Amino acid sequence: MPHLRPRRARRTPAIRELLTQTRLHPRDLVLPVFVKEGLQEPAEIRSMPGVYQHTIASVRDLTEQARDAGLGGIMVFAVPQSRDALGSGATDPDGFFAAAIRAVAQAAEGALVVMSDICLDEFTDHGHCGVLRPDGTIDNDATIDRYAQMAVIHADAGADVVGLSGMMDGQTAEVRAALDDAGLIDTLILSYTAKYASAFYGPFRDAVESTLEGDRRTYQMDPANRREALRALDIEEASGADIVMVKPAGSYLDVLADLAAASSVPVAAYQVSGEYAMIEAASANGWIDRERVIVESLIAIRRAGADVILTYYALEAAAWLAGSRRDALPVNPPVA
Ligand code: PBG
Repeated sequence: MPHLRPRRARRTPAIRELLTQTRLHPRDLVLPVFVKEGLQEPAEIRSMPGVYQHTIASVRDLTEQARDAGLGGIMVFAVPQSRDALGSGATDPDGFFAAAIRAVAQAAEGALVVMSDICLDEFTDHGHCGVLRPDGTIDNDATIDRYAQMAVIHADAGADVVGLSGMMDGQTAEVRAALDDAGLIDTLILSYTAKYASAFYGPFRDAVESTLEGDRRTYQMDPANRREALRALDIEEASGADIVMVKPAGSYLDVLADLAAASSVPVAAYQVSGEYAMIEAASANGWIDRERVIVESLIAIRRAGADVILTYYALEAAAWLAGSRRDALPVNPPVA
């Protein structure tokens, strides 16, 4: 007869619920949203069924929904109408991105943390996150100058947090200095500290209608590298990052666990477009139980150490979590 019986702790839902180590809460979730310039009606993104490019009016509604669902935050991405080599549109103080942030910030009414993406890839015609030298290489230092201008514009428009996703050296220190010089001392910096050169961002290209010439391997991290994330963490902490992030999430849980163990600031993880698309595609074929896989994927990211999760499932997951026991999810169908 066995002497040690771990199954005792798994016997009833009530016992399991009491003893669970990891829970999800809507306040930990951040919804990424795409707002497109000149759009008349919300448009579904081909490779991200259920996710839309929004108009200013529809993103307002979505923000209210996110607020009412008790989410933690919302991350704004802009899809501009025109692009050029410098990504000029990104630093237009009266531009579309600033208008979109203002609309979201207004609808958030202080109950949701408003975040914005600081990067040039949506605004450049070559699709890179920075400006290029004549030889086609990235001009790191000219790029972080542009990020700094962008961050000040976003913070002025109402962003509580600026998300630095460009993976340029020195971007956090440069942006912090520019914000401080502009008197924007309360704006937080979310640093994409360990952002990998990942194929999981594929559907995001559809979402922001960007095409990339070449690849991002000279600035985003090599998926084969783990140790490098800890060096990035040291640099980002010393540069004033308020939140550090790992991206993608699901395939990088080891990196997330490393950062969560070592970091002195909160850690976020981004469940990216390709992670979303894979779950949707398999679910649409009836090959997996959609709700259970979504919740499991989010729980796994929390378990690995994320304090905050950026996920396209934020609204849906919040609805499931409201008033439902985590392990009773299959009998509590999602609220429409
Ligand atoms: C950069 C940025 C990207 C994503 C978030 N911020 C694209 C990239 O770096 O290639 C990807 C998010 C996703 O795939 O869901 N602006």
